[in-house]
Amino acid sequence: MTVTEPDRFNGIFSTPLNELLDKVETSMEQDLVPAEIFNSDEVFQAEMERIFTRVWVFVAHESEIPNAGDFVQRRIGLDPVIVTRDGKGGINVLSNYCRHRGTQVCQTDAGNSRFFTCPYHGWTYSNDGTLIGTPLMQRAYGEPLDPKLWSLKKAPKVESRNGFIFASLSEDVPPLEEWLGGGAGWMLDIITQLHPDGMRVAGPPDRYIVNGDWKTAGENFAGDVYHLPTLHNSIQEIDLIQGLQGTCEIAGTYEFDNGHTFVGHHWTEAIGPFFTYWGYGAVPGYAENFDVSGFDETAKWVAENQPPTVGTIFPNFSFIRIFSPLPGGRPGVFTSFRQWQPVAPGKIELWSWQFVWNFQDEESAQYDAVGGQFCFGSAGVYEQDDTVAWEGIPRAAASPWMRKEDMKFHYKQEGANTGVDQSPDPDWKGPGIHRNTGYGEHAQFNFLRQWLKHMKTEAPASNCPADKKKSTCEGEH
Ligand code: FES
Ligand code: FE
Repeated sequence: MTVTEPDRFNGIFSTPLNELLDKVETSMEQDLVPAEIFNSDEVFQAEMERIFTRVWVFVAHESEIPNAGDFVQRRIGLDPVIVTRDGKGGINVLSNYCRHRGTQVCQTDAGNSRFFTCPYHGWTYSNDGTLIGTPLMQRAYGEPLDPKLWSLKKAPKVESRNGFIFASLSEDVPPLEEWLGGGAGWMLDIITQLHPDGMRVAGPPDRYIVNGDWKTAGENFAGDVYHLPTLHNSIQEIDLIQGLQGTCEIAGTYEFDNGHTFVGHHWTEAIGPFFTYWGYGAVPGYAENFDVSGFDETAKWVAENQPPTVGTIFPNFSFIRIFSPLPGGRPGVFTSFRQWQPVAPGKIELWSWQFVWNFQDEESAQYDAVGGQFCFGSAGVYEQDDTVAWEGIPRAAASPWMRKEDMKFHYKQEGANTGVDQSPDPDWKGPGIHRNTGYGEHAQFNFLRQWLKHMKTEAPASNCPADKKKSTCEGEH
C-alpha cells in the first residue's frame, strides 16, 4: 500500500498569519512551538518579505572571486544575485534580472567576465551593473538609454568580515559589524583567524535539495546536541567515532544578540589537554602555525578548550568544524560553512562549502576538504542522517490531522530531577550568554525568538528608508 504523505497543506485547518504568530508567541512562553510554522505558504511568503529582504544575508566568500572580473551566482531568499569583483576591485551584488524584461542576464554559476549580455535581446551590463549597450540602439531607441535608470539593481548594502561577504536588500539595516554584534563576529574571528592568513574555500559549493524547512536546519546547527547519540549512532556502530552518548555533558552554548547562536564541546576536558583547538592540537602541522595572541582571554579559552562545533548566523548561514574520521587516513579537522536556501515551504536547497587554511599546501588542504565531504557532503555520513530527520518535520507540519490537533513541538529540557544546571554561566566574561551544558534547547530558542521578532514586524510599503522619498529611491539603481 502506498501512503500519500502530506507535502503542502493550506486547507481549512490553516491559521491566519497574525493569529498564528500570536500563537507562536504565547506557545514559546511555555517552551512550545506550533508545528504549522514549518510548512505554510503564508508563513513562507512572510519570511521572504519580513526576513530575507530585510536583514544581512551571506552571499559569498571573497576567495571565490579573488580577481577582477570574477563572479559567482548566488541567492538572497528567492532572488538570484550575481556577486562580482569589478575592475576596481570593488564587490557588487547585482540583481540577476535584466531591466528590459527580466530574463537572467547571467546563466552560469561562476566565471570571469567584464560584462553580462542578456540572452534575450542583448542588453549588456558591465560587471558593476551599469547598462553599457543596447543592440540596434539607433533604430530601436534613437538615443542611448540612461544608465542611471536602466542599470541592474544592486543590493544597497554589501560588507565583508574575514572575507565573508554579506548583502542586504534593504538600506535600513545596521552596519554588518553591529548586526553580527560582539558575539557572532567575535566567534567568526575565533573560527577563521587562528592563523593570520585566514581561510579560503576549497572549491565551489555542493548543492542539493532537501525537503526540510530552512528554520529546522538553522535551529539544528544553532545547537541541537541532543540528537547526536541517536540520529548519528550508526557512525558509532561502524567505529568511525565514539562517545556520542556524552555529547550533551561536555557541550556549552553561546547565545548571542540577533539570534546568532553557536554550541561548542569541551574537548580538552573530555579527551585530554593535547586536544586543543577542535583537535588540531593532536594533528601535526596545524596548531604550531596558529597565533591567537590577538585574541582576548575568553576567546583564547574558547578556541583552546570549548570551541564551537556548530553555529548559525541568522537567518540561514551555518558552520560546522569537527575532527574528521576518514577511515584509514591520518587524523584531520574539517571546516564547512553551509547555507539553507529557502525554495518553498518545507523545501530548501542546501549549499555546502568546505573551507581550508590559506597556509596549507594543496595536498593537505585537499585531504581536509575530502574529510569534510565524507562527513558533510551530499553523501556525507552525518548529512544523510540529518536530512532524513529534517524531512519528517514539514510532513508533520502539513498534516491535516496534526493541524486539527493543533500540534506543537516540544522545546523544554529541564525538570526538578535532571541535576543539570542549565542557567547562564555566572563566570562567563565573553559576549552573550554561555551555558555549560548541551541540554535545554536554549540555543534553538535564541534562533527562533529572532525569527519571531522579524515576523511580527510588518514590512514597510517599500524598501526605501523612512527618511527617503519613495520617488527618489526608485530613481536609483
Ligand atoms: Fe534582457 Fe530583453 S530581456 S534584453
Ligand atoms: Fe546532525
